[in-house]
Amino acid sequence: MSDMIFKPLEFRTLKVKNRVFRSNMSGRFDNYDGSGNPARINWETRFARGGVGAVISSFVPVHGRGRILPNYAMMDADDKIPFWREVGKRVHEFDCRFILQLSHGGRQRDITGIEYPESWSSTSKPDPLHGFEARAMTENEIGQVVQQFGQAAQRAQQAGLDGVELHGANGYLITQFLSSAINDRKDGYGGQLENRARFLLEIVRSIRQRCGRDFHLQMKISATENNNAMVLREERGNTIADSVQVCKWLETEGVDAIHVSNGSYFPHPRNPAGDLPVDEFLRVYDSMISSGTKTLRNFLILRNDLTGRLFKRQWEKERGTVIEGLNLPDSAAIKQAVSIPVICTGGFQTASVIRAAISSGQCDAVSIARPLIANPDLVKMFERGLDRPPVPCTYCNKCLVTVVENPLGCYDETRFITREAMIRDIMSVFDPPPYK
Ligand SMILES: Cc1cc2nc3c(=O)[nH]c(=O)nc-3n(C[C@H](O)[C@H](O)[C@H](O)COP(=O)(O)O)c2cc1C
Ligand code: SF4
Repeated sequence: MSDMIFKPLEFRTLKVKNRVFRSNMSGRFDNYDGSGNPARINWETRFARGGVGAVISSFVPVHGRGRILPNYAMMDADDKIPFWREVGKRVHEFDCRFILQLSHGGRQRDITGIEYPESWSSTSKPDPLHGFEARAMTENEIGQVVQQFGQAAQRAQQAGLDGVELHGANGYLITQFLSSAINDRKDGYGGQLENRARFLLEIVRSIRQRCGRDFHLQMKISATENNNAMVLREERGNTIADSVQVCKWLETEGVDAIHVSNGSYFPHPRNPAGDLPVDEFLRVYDSMISSGTKTLRNFLILRNDLTGRLFKRQWEKERGTVIEGLNLPDSAAIKQAVSIPVICTGGFQTASVIRAAISSGQCDAVSIARPLIANPDLVKMFERGLDRPPVPCTYCNKCLVTVVENPLGCYDETRFITREAMIRDIMSVFDPPPYK
């Protein structure tokens, strides 16, 4: 128990048994109408069984207009409560906590689906990378979405879950309001930082009003946006100083923890930091060609040898050389400014690196996504004294790009004895099946 990784973490009203959280990971496991599927339960329990202290759910839309792909379980109506209650119950069986990520995609929607083709955002500008189009929300619509977040949090509480996380990171709707590079409003929700944070703080107040002071509430934030990483003419977006100020306001409003990420869109060279697997990307990006005004252009750029190489080179330049712990400097800056716990995401899979990050006060816990897809029992490996898994995640990002069409899993064939073994591993999320 002298190992920092296994020291319980106490939030204001929630205690987690260790310092490793499963980071949010979406996958198209559920039903088209946003109701949950048993594969989702298999997926979330896999990491609880593997020893993480808490599972932070994938992107859970608070409304159908906020989803980024169909087949994600939502929390948009009371009829979704029983499914999430079951997910929470099954995760709890492993002495693991379950935190639901409340999300809204805004203009960043890969495939909108049939019910809500119009996307809402802080702006009417299309996203510069894919050309996803949107309409700037009216103040009345902002009020509706604030209430949708509050209602979804209340449903999570009624489902017996351990808390909620606001998805304020990675370029989704809350980032679209916070970002100095994206938000071009002229009303009270745009302009200076205080106005850009107004939407977020109204959501926090709505949740506190509906769920009370003691329901765990955390916020995932893109601490630095690097909005011009791939489209150079764009503004750089929020700096760490901006985000530190936002986190101080969040603490004052009663938020219990900060989860540190980066990037004003997703995926981004620095999130999840790794390779751009062009062949795998091209195999699925065609499903998105009708989604944005720049998607066909991007498809052609990547398919051409020369322009594809130039695109990849820019990606790697912006990614930099550090992957494991790349958000630690931002996390440390936020930790110095607030007294609530700070969880850091980004590349972690080495026990000694995690231990050093916590012991040196750069974060209180880490969250892990891809290395847990690769090794769901990573925490158990740490418990056995391994510093790093024998077959680690290679950060190839094949899991990420294939998710638009295929089940979420590890797609790096080099990590498996055969391709068949890899496919078996990916398909294991459907076992046990819904009916026997
Ligand atoms: C396939 C995939 C899906 C993801 N889905 C989400 C998501 O729904 N919500 C979110 O906040 N982050 C999402 N992320 C980002 C991760 O939660 C994590 O913050 C990021 O991948 C960096 O951690 P890692 O290096 O451990 O993968 C996703 C990442 C991957 C690879
Ligand atoms: S495909 Fe596998 S090895 Fe590659 S990033 Fe994803 S989990 Fe890691």
